[in-house]
Amino acid sequence: MSKGERANFGSKLGVILASAGSAVGLGNIWRFPYETGNHGGAAFILIYLLCVLILGMPIMISEFIIGRHSRANTARAYEVLAPKTQWKWVGFMGVLAGFLILSYYSVVAGWTLEYVIEAGADGFAKKGPEDFINAFQSFSQDPFRPVLWLVLFLLMTHFIIVKGVKNGIEKSSKIMMPLLLVIIFVLVGCSLSLPGAEKGLEFLLKPDFSKVDSNVFLGALGQAFFSLSLGMGCLCTYASYFSKETNLGKTALSVGVLDTVIAILAGLIIFPAAFSVGIKPDAGPSLIFITLPNVFQQAFSGAPVLAYIFSLMFYILLAVAALTSTISMHEVVTAYLHEEFKISRNKAAGLVTGGCIFLGIFASLSLGIAKDYTAFSLGIFDLLDFVTAKIMLPLGGLLIAIFTGWYLDKKVVWEEISNGGKLKVRYFKLFIFILKYIAPVAISLIFVNELGLI
Ligand code: PHE
Repeated sequence: MSKGERANFGSKLGVILASAGSAVGLGNIWRFPYETGNHGGAAFILIYLLCVLILGMPIMISEFIIGRHSRANTARAYEVLAPKTQWKWVGFMGVLAGFLILSYYSVVAGWTLEYVIEAGADGFAKKGPEDFINAFQSFSQDPFRPVLWLVLFLLMTHFIIVKGVKNGIEKSSKIMMPLLLVIIFVLVGCSLSLPGAEKGLEFLLKPDFSKVDSNVFLGALGQAFFSLSLGMGCLCTYASYFSKETNLGKTALSVGVLDTVIAILAGLIIFPAAFSVGIKPDAGPSLIFITLPNVFQQAFSGAPVLAYIFSLMFYILLAVAALTSTISMHEVVTAYLHEEFKISRNKAAGLVTGGCIFLGIFASLSLGIAKDYTAFSLGIFDLLDFVTAKIMLPLGGLLIAIFTGWYLDKKVVWEEISNGGKLKVRYFKLFIFILKYIAPVAISLIFVNELGLI
């Protein structure tokens, strides 16, 4: 496809909602609350906010610059901006990371569908905490049901991708993102009105700095990265569909604010409800699939209809949020195959979906019948999570910061960020300073810490 024919998002709102759709996902609603719970609450959130602002925003703008200036998929983008150099590997690594994350992320995304159906069939009624633990364990270890949901989830993603950038990604984001916001606000209202909700609110809003150690700081940094979809060229690919008029700085700010607000609202749903029924906030990754159904039942024991509506809405919300994220990962790989191997978009999408189903099945089975097959003592699911989130994303982000801060011609950076001089960009010097010095040092720290080297 030549440059002129390349697809574009049709509107400013479409750009923001699609990018925010990528960022907002299981990372906000599932991972953020349990990380916050594990790291002691408000102090973690404060540090998280700093990380989003100081590191997340500049790196997001960098991905936007790389994507829009090159108008290419993330692998080709580096060929365009830095021909015949080794920078192309940053792009390849991003495409590979997209494929690998999509494969195991879809497993968890598939679980949300099981819970939507379960909630819809009123399957949570009259159950106690033990039942929820057993139900989740037997479901996630089952060889068939999670696989079925995984396939279905990837087919839903496939369907939207095949529809294309404007009619698929943009249109679906314009419907799903507002829906998501409405559901979230209703749920926050419900959760805050529960008796004893204040304790949850206090946990979220009153920082206890005695709990802050280097682990908390680095945990917050990693969460910011995952949640904003940074480090693998996802937002870079979306930016290749931005128009010349898109204000990159403002778009990054809107996406960052939306992503952060939704994470905090997810905390406002989960913690007041958990405290209200005396459940500990540090239950870990099972917080959403084991603890929450129980929370809904106990919190609304006098009003089963509310328990029904509350749980059904919550899992629909989770599925919708996951879908707008899986679309963005799928697009990274589809755009790459379509443009580099000159195959049709549909065929490219088919290859990605098929490949992810294949790998996803192994990831899903590795939580049940295949759990004894391990490498580095990790099953496939955990291995994929470790290699992508803990190695590829931090490394990608680090290299993107260095690429924009040190390698890329500052005239190109200025031209993109100011739309050819039309916008005033007062933060330009600060932006470059952060990319050159602060981001590389800070990200190296997360990276080294996550690998257990310090
Ligand atoms: N940001 C997404 C979430 O919070 C996850 C994601 C990571 C999406 C990397 C795309 C790329 O769930």
